[in-house]
Amino acid sequence: MERQHIIFSNNLGEALAEAVGSDNSIFILTDQNTHQLCLPLLAGISCINGAHEIIIDAGDTAKTLDSCDHVWSQLGAQGATRRSLMINLGGGMVTDLGGFAASTFKRGISFINIPTTLLAMVDASVGGKTGVNFGGLKNEIGVFRNARCVIIDTNFLSTMDRDNLLSGYAEMLKHGLISNLPTWAALLNFDIEHPNLKELQRMVEESVEVKQRIVMEDPHEHGLRKALNLGHTLGHAIESLAMEQQRPMLHGKAVAFGLMGELYLSTVKRGFPADRMRQTATFIRTHYGQPSFTCDDYPRLLELMTHDKKNTGNGINFTMLSNIGSIDINQTATQAEIEEALDFIREA
Ligand code: GLY
Repeated sequence: MERQHIIFSNNLGEALAEAVGSDNSIFILTDQNTHQLCLPLLAGISCINGAHEIIIDAGDTAKTLDSCDHVWSQLGAQGATRRSLMINLGGGMVTDLGGFAASTFKRGISFINIPTTLLAMVDASVGGKTGVNFGGLKNEIGVFRNARCVIIDTNFLSTMDRDNLLSGYAEMLKHGLISNLPTWAALLNFDIEHPNLKELQRMVEESVEVKQRIVMEDPHEHGLRKALNLGHTLGHAIESLAMEQQRPMLHGKAVAFGLMGELYLSTVKRGFPADRMRQTATFIRTHYGQPSFTCDDYPRLLELMTHDKKNTGNGINFTMLSNIGSIDINQTATQAEIEEALDFIREA
């Protein structure tokens, strides 16, 4: 796969002029939140003057084929052609759904992602995964297709609330764990409660570079890209359980707990250094707090893991580490080991 075109910018006008070029049939997709809070920041940018607007509901529950139907209908009704361009302005829900709607409309129109959350900047908007939830399963329907360009403007971070910042930071921690010691150490030493935005911007660029490197080598997740699933086998189950129990949890918070448990498994099964596991777990406990599941939830968590689409028929599939940056994909664990990891997340 070609290297994805990413513009790191503090000037949306200049970045958009570069990304849009001479295209003039432009559609801007937002959800109700980004329509209100982020779209005004694009006002007056000449290359998107006269762009059509499409708005969908906010939140993961709106990441559906119904919302896609709305986007396709609006594209059709407002005269989009194969040469139209869609700009997805929002968090991961908007960039995933917008990317999918654009990739399938008239067999595919170009799209640009402008991620407005830290999570979308360092993960969702980069790497070509697009899709919607279906049949109760997350991202069950989708295609791989790269955005023409991703514009990362960290000015959006200056107004981000603590929970959303921490949610994205969990994916950055994951990128640190799968890359190298200095990156991991810098992430643990960063004051995420009082972030220096300039420093955070530099760390975001480094984090995106980790993902880019992996995606270029294995765009369709046949092997190395599974490294990006670290923390996600336990994390997805924790996130789905929270959703079922009607106390939804931000994706990155669930991933943070997933990282704790999967580093524990990595120590037990792959010899990951116990001190580094404990340092990471302490960071997560300090900033992300305590998970809300109890041991009564273990059977349901195991059931959710058994149905995870990352499994390949060989039990529950985990990505583990034998050290920072040393990745062991396609690992399994016994029920007893997984329960120990869940105990560790609750009690460490
Ligand atoms: N979010 C993990 C990936 O893009 O593969």
